[in-house]
Amino acid sequence: MKPWGGRFKGQTDPLLEKFSASIGFDRELYRHDIKGSIAHAGMLEKIGILNAQEKKKIVRGLKEIEKEIDSGRFQFSDALEDIHMHIEARLIEKTGEAGKKLHTGRSRNDQVSLDMRLFLKEGLAGIDEGLKGLLGALLKKAEKEKDVIMPGYTHMQRAQVVPFAHYLLGHYFALRRDRDRLSECLRRLDVLPLGSGALAGSTIPLDRQWVRKKLGFAKVSRNSMDTVADRDFAVDAVYSSAMIMVHLSRFAEDLIIFATEEFSFISLPDELCTGSSLMPHKKNPDSLELIRGKTGRVAADLFGLFMILKGLPYTYNRDLQEDKEPLLHAVRTAKDSLAIMELCVKGMTADKKNMEKAAVESFMPAVEMAEYLTMKGMPFRQAHGVAGTAVRMCEEKGMRLGDMTLAQLKKLSVLFEKDVFDFIRPQSALKMRRSEGSASFKEVSKVIDAEKKYLRS
Ligand code: ARG
Repeated sequence: MKPWGGRFKGQTDPLLEKFSASIGFDRELYRHDIKGSIAHAGMLEKIGILNAQEKKKIVRGLKEIEKEIDSGRFQFSDALEDIHMHIEARLIEKTGEAGKKLHTGRSRNDQVSLDMRLFLKEGLAGIDEGLKGLLGALLKKAEKEKDVIMPGYTHMQRAQVVPFAHYLLGHYFALRRDRDRLSECLRRLDVLPLGSGALAGSTIPLDRQWVRKKLGFAKVSRNSMDTVADRDFAVDAVYSSAMIMVHLSRFAEDLIIFATEEFSFISLPDELCTGSSLMPHKKNPDSLELIRGKTGRVAADLFGLFMILKGLPYTYNRDLQEDKEPLLHAVRTAKDSLAIMELCVKGMTADKKNMEKAAVESFMPAVEMAEYLTMKGMPFRQAHGVAGTAVRMCEEKGMRLGDMTLAQLKKLSVLFEKDVFDFIRPQSALKMRRSEGSASFKEVSKVIDAEKKYLRS
């Protein structure tokens, strides 16, 4: 039986009933819905709408319903549209007249916003846990492999030698920013919407501050129309999730490449790969490919939400029901992907020899060669040209920069001395780089120490 039965003569068309039902996905909000209702009932008692007896009955009923849903005994039906109506209808079944009073001063419009905010407080905390776990794994791996060196790439070309740990910490810092983004998002959504009603509040003297305290919100919302129209908090949460996914996807893409036979920089644990149904030799990095693939869908969640909101007239419109699927999907996917990535990082092994080989057999020290000349007074642009010429000469002769003789180098510039050969060894660059945040062993150690403290706090 629908609560608006009084206004309607006919029944809802069965096709519309199915079309408009959100219970298939918003049932995930049941615990939050019940939590909100319990607080609302407490407040209704405080202001005299419910007597103590009725309030007790309602709270008991709601807790029973929670258990029914927990255990899978609860009967769901499209006819009741959404999670709010399911719980209310069941409560009335259980408590009769008392249950009929629960929706006093409340609309599903402020109720659904409350449920989503409560869901996100928990959901984003779960993502944050996942971030923390992955950050810890990255830091540990960086410390363990701190002597391993590799080429750093731009344009997928070997660019400059870096410690593998510096590479790992690069991804670490991106994910660390994601934690800040999440906490900012949490701060902004920490506002109680309940009490805004359908859009204009209520003549019933609702005590919103009481509910706020009960539910642990920092503030109550200040404009009832904005409150039921607002989905910024959902967009913020999906954006934060999408950004995490994009970070994970870029990292995943690297690891996929590093695990190819062509690179052989790392190997992934069997548990996180699958085989081929046809090719016996294959070991495919499915876990990472799926993170990359799911990133597309979470980015689409963000775009989808924007499209729902664009041009939506004030205030609530049923379009807003379509916010649930992208939101729930984005939060769930970010959390799961972080957990999978943590396993990948913990389980992967670095092939020190291959990484080092790639770093040594390259023209990357051309940068250091140019800096060597710069330190001896040559303008950098000119030094760049000299080192570039050296690279071209080596390429023609099939040798590396370190194979050149001092005489050959002196022909390019008289500033070259014997010490240049030490200067352009990959290991030297890693010891000598001095700028803050640079790819040097010293900077990496500093960062690891500082970040251990951060993660402990
Ligand atoms: N299931 C609805 C949603 O998620 C709840 C709010 C319904 N409000 C309304 N005026 N029909 O948006």
